[in-house]
Amino acid sequence: MKLTDTHAHINMLSNPEMGIIEARDNNVGNIIIPSAGVEDFEPVLDLCHRFDNTYALLGVHPEYADKFTDKIASKIYELSKDEKVVGIGEIGLDYHYSKENKNAQKNCFINQIQIALELNLPIIVHDREAHLDTYDILQQEKAKNVLLHCFSGSTEFMELCCRAGYKIAVGGVVTFKNAKAIKEVVQNIDIDNLMLETDCPYLTPHPYRGEENSPKYIGFVAKEVANLKDMPYDSVVIKTSENASKFFKIECI
Ligand code: NI
Repeated sequence: MKLTDTHAHINMLSNPEMGIIEARDNNVGNIIIPSAGVEDFEPVLDLCHRFDNTYALLGVHPEYADKFTDKIASKIYELSKDEKVVGIGEIGLDYHYSKENKNAQKNCFINQIQIALELNLPIIVHDREAHLDTYDILQQEKAKNVLLHCFSGSTEFMELCCRAGYKIAVGGVVTFKNAKAIKEVVQNIDIDNLMLETDCPYLTPHPYRGEENSPKYIGFVAKEVANLKDMPYDSVVIKTSENASKFFKIECI
């Protein structure tokens, strides 16, 4: 069984094709490529059409909430007919980036949750310093098939989210020595609710911190999860990849 990278901004790498090829050499199977803004839709779909076992997410990140329009919503509907599209993301709230436009961020988030529900697609959530508002909106909109990417909440918040049926993805931060909160989350989460990601080109795992991140480094995340959960490395790979295949309804490889 191969590793699955559930969140890799391949189109943002200095060499996207090399990023995929090197991933293959490092036992990475399925790769999910999210969009941050509307400009990513075409390059992300293009990559997914050229490479097997790569899948696309369409969505507008909260950083671009002010630019979200009905026209973009229609574009998401239209492009989601593509068989390579497996979810809506990344969408959510980011109060670290800005607290000034909370209403625009919430509208953008809610609109896209509704699109996902209508299309029966999973929702991939970006939540930074906005845990409670994110949770409230997901509950209020009766969101289904939710994955909280690059989870940054407490163990209590993780438990609340898992009780609601939401899944959690962790990345390179878990390998950072001082990242106590996320290490505790990983120790306490039921492995059935956990997936792995890189969020490349950002958040490169130790010991490559500072370099451009790439899916080839996801093994370091799996290794630290195995260490924290006191599980064999291979079991972490199998469980997290099975979880991802089930969640995104893609072939398990
Ligand atoms: Ni991302």
